[in-house]
Amino acid sequence: MTYRDFKLIAINLMKTNPLNTDKKRKIINDYNSSFQYYDKRYGEIQLKKYRRFFENRKIQNKKILDAGCGTGLLLEYIFQKDKLKAFPRYKYTGVDIALNMLNKFHLKLEALGAKRIVNLVVADIENLPFRNNVFDEIFSITVFQNLNDIGRGLDSLVRVGKSRFDLVISILKKASGLEIFDTLVKQKLVEYYFDYNHRIEDNIVWGTFSKKED
Ligand SMILES: C[S@@+](CC[C@H](N)C(=O)[O-])C[C@H]1O[C@@H](n2cnc3c(N)ncnc32)[C@H](O)[C@@H]1O
Repeated sequence: MTYRDFKLIAINLMKTNPLNTDKKRKIINDYNSSFQYYDKRYGEIQLKKYRRFFENRKIQNKKILDAGCGTGLLLEYIFQKDKLKAFPRYKYTGVDIALNMLNKFHLKLEALGAKRIVNLVVADIENLPFRNNVFDEIFSITVFQNLNDIGRGLDSLVRVGKSRFDLVISILKKASGLEIFDTLVKQKLVEYYFDYNHRIEDNIVWGTFSKKED
């Protein structure tokens, strides 16, 4: 399958997805139009968030999911921080609903030396196309304010995480669903830590999670 085929399939999937509400279509259109300016406009802001949750964190030998990966700023940061370029022992999967953001990410992979360890998938966090219990570490940074259903998004991430997995999620402080987000995190996850630092524009939740037994 060529990259062009992949694009066509992705576009058709997005068109026929019943979860595509007006809100979601607008988000797709907005990010598909602004992808060129994203790094310049938001690079520094995102970096502050990554520094915050990576203060005491190292990634190695892990299957990572970056849900709502955008243009790949998080992967660039991980590469610089952990100097993993020479030891790429982990597998990284980036998922985003906006194809142009992924195209921009894709163009960076050669320079990063990361082509062999990266998969990029056009998909909706609320409906992830992966099997259960796949990922050791899941990130979703500044994405949850965009979802139609925060609970569905959390369930989806928990479903694809292994029975014990690390999770970092952030949501814009100005998002309307903040209280719902806090309540659902407490309900659905077993170990969590809320980091609501006032100088960062997102509320961040992180921890190592064991799935709740029903
Ligand atoms: C503010 S950007 C953050 C990008 C990246 N996480 C970062 O740290 O730079 C939000 C991203 O989430 C993506 N997104 C929004 N809703 C999504 C959904 N339902 N499923 C997957 N990606 C989504 C957008 O296309 C956009 O790339």
